[in-house]
Amino acid sequence: MNSPVMQGLNLNTPAYVKNPKLIAWVAEMAALCKPANVYWCDGSEEEYDRLCQLLVDNGTFKKLNPAKRPGSFLACSDPSDVARVEDRTYICSEKKENAGPTNNWMAPAEMRQTLNPLFDGCMQGRTLYVVPFSMGPLGSHIAHIGIELTDSAYVAVNQKLMTRMGKAVFDVIGTDGEFVPCLHTVGAPLVNGAKDTTSWPCNPTVKYIVHYPETREIWSYGSGYGGNALLGKKCLALRIASSMGREQGWLAEHMLILGVTNPQGKKYHVAAAFPSACGKTNFSMLVPPEGFNGWKVTTIGDDIAWIKPQANGKMMAINPEAGYFGVAPGTNHHTNPNCMASLDKNVIFTNVALTDDGDVWWEGIEKDTGQLPDHLIDWQGKDWTPQIAKDTGAKAAHANARFTVSAINNPALDPAWDDAAGVSIDAFIFGGRRSTTVPLVTEARNWTEGVYMAATMGSETTAAAFGAQGVVRRDPFAMLPFCGYNMSDYFQHWLDVGAKVQAGGHKLPSIYCVNWFRKDEAGKFVWPGYGDNMRVLKWMIDRLEGQAQGQETIFGITPTYAELNWTGLSFTADQFKTVTSIDKAAWQQELQLHNTHFEQLAYNMPKALLDTKAALAQRLAAV
Ligand code: OXD
Ligand code: MN
Repeated sequence: MNSPVMQGLNLNTPAYVKNPKLIAWVAEMAALCKPANVYWCDGSEEEYDRLCQLLVDNGTFKKLNPAKRPGSFLACSDPSDVARVEDRTYICSEKKENAGPTNNWMAPAEMRQTLNPLFDGCMQGRTLYVVPFSMGPLGSHIAHIGIELTDSAYVAVNQKLMTRMGKAVFDVIGTDGEFVPCLHTVGAPLVNGAKDTTSWPCNPTVKYIVHYPETREIWSYGSGYGGNALLGKKCLALRIASSMGREQGWLAEHMLILGVTNPQGKKYHVAAAFPSACGKTNFSMLVPPEGFNGWKVTTIGDDIAWIKPQANGKMMAINPEAGYFGVAPGTNHHTNPNCMASLDKNVIFTNVALTDDGDVWWEGIEKDTGQLPDHLIDWQGKDWTPQIAKDTGAKAAHANARFTVSAINNPALDPAWDDAAGVSIDAFIFGGRRSTTVPLVTEARNWTEGVYMAATMGSETTAAAFGAQGVVRRDPFAMLPFCGYNMSDYFQHWLDVGAKVQAGGHKLPSIYCVNWFRKDEAGKFVWPGYGDNMRVLKWMIDRLEGQAQGQETIFGITPTYAELNWTGLSFTADQFKTVTSIDKAAWQQELQLHNTHFEQLAYNMPKALLDTKAALAQRLAAV
């Protein structure tokens, strides 16, 4: 069975791989993609070092100055390959309505016909890396296994940091265990012995990120970047897993998970969903401010949570990932000191700038030193000086520049982050970026009201990202680009999960809606954010402990000014009003926008959410 030879290609299957389905699939994909070699990753340190050296030798990696940034590398991508490509991302369910109006869709048979010719010979001249990974602690009942076949060594080393990657995964799947097959190519075959002419091979024009939820397969073509290529993350842990969770009664969410321990040593766990660019990594590594002596915040996850309700009513959550793929620009010792400490060593940076002494730099980091560097090499390999930046607006780092780092680098890592049993969630938080309308924090009075808050959350767009500035882009549960099935069915799934826990006689986690981003009349943010978000978090814990009464509004329960701990911050009752007030006219307009949003999602929209909206409109009218 081992080491079958396919059309002259030795699959090099190690003796410890004993899963016939896996071996047959690798053989089939190798026959299609026609790589020059097949290499099975074992996940060892020796292998990681060897592949990083290979990437240095072929110019993809630059080794950073070991005195400044030990064990670290910088990769700069092709300018056409810098982010997830949502318009090239497909959910290929048999029926279009099961992908829903928020996903691109193509029938599976048609997509296979489109992709097969593209994948035929796509890995010529390259090595096919077999990357075995566990999403979640190895062997955890909440975890799932993926096997990624990729022709990118960059992907293989990133997967080593981002997942539990290596040999032990084969023990978990044994001879007949399940795995999600993930096929990835940069889409740049080296035909007839051709050599790479670029250090970031990709296909600048053709990209497909394809999910088949019914057969649980992922095929990705043309990009080497982030969520397009590290298939365990958004593709498996969110799109495929959300669809698995619907079938199996659990939740795959775009949520960080943190532990909050009070001075008495009592610990709570909170899962929080924020759209991209809302300070999610910062919140997951929050450092409590002055006045919170004895409080401790610890990170279980920074991006994704898998939550499985148990028979005892507890919602047990794991972080399926083992590392962070975070946005570098804006990160500094003020916004996220724990993150900065995580980046001291053993990091892969992508698309940040290079300093003259072999270290990295990005916009926002100058707040730590108070000055800009005289000279850098920017992410595109060009000279950068403060004068050039002033004259041309050129950014040294790409706005979506990233760091990849193992979770074990995080000084605030929760001791239970790798616990196979997971942690029990006490509260969910949903947050968007809104300069008006949505108050600082509101607690839902019941599960359905919380699901409504999450279903209607949104962020104001920035001109660069999505066209018109200031338009609210609805991003339900922060899952808009990540839900692997019809969004209204997903709302119903949340309602069903809640109903089941309640039917068992158990208490559900509380649900909170937050908005750190209200602005004053001068257009300035009012709430300081970052560590000061602890003040809001503590109020939530006080609520869980029955120690804060709050006050009821038309949406739910909000804190009184006196209920927040203000030690070390001068924040007046008037300022508090600015971030918590409810403007009737703005909310009437907001409800119109909820109507439009729900009309777009009308197919299978749960009646309970329509009823919640009607009740809200009625309460608003009565104010
Ligand atoms: C991410 C995202 O990269 O949400 O985590 O876009
Ligand atoms: Mn994310």
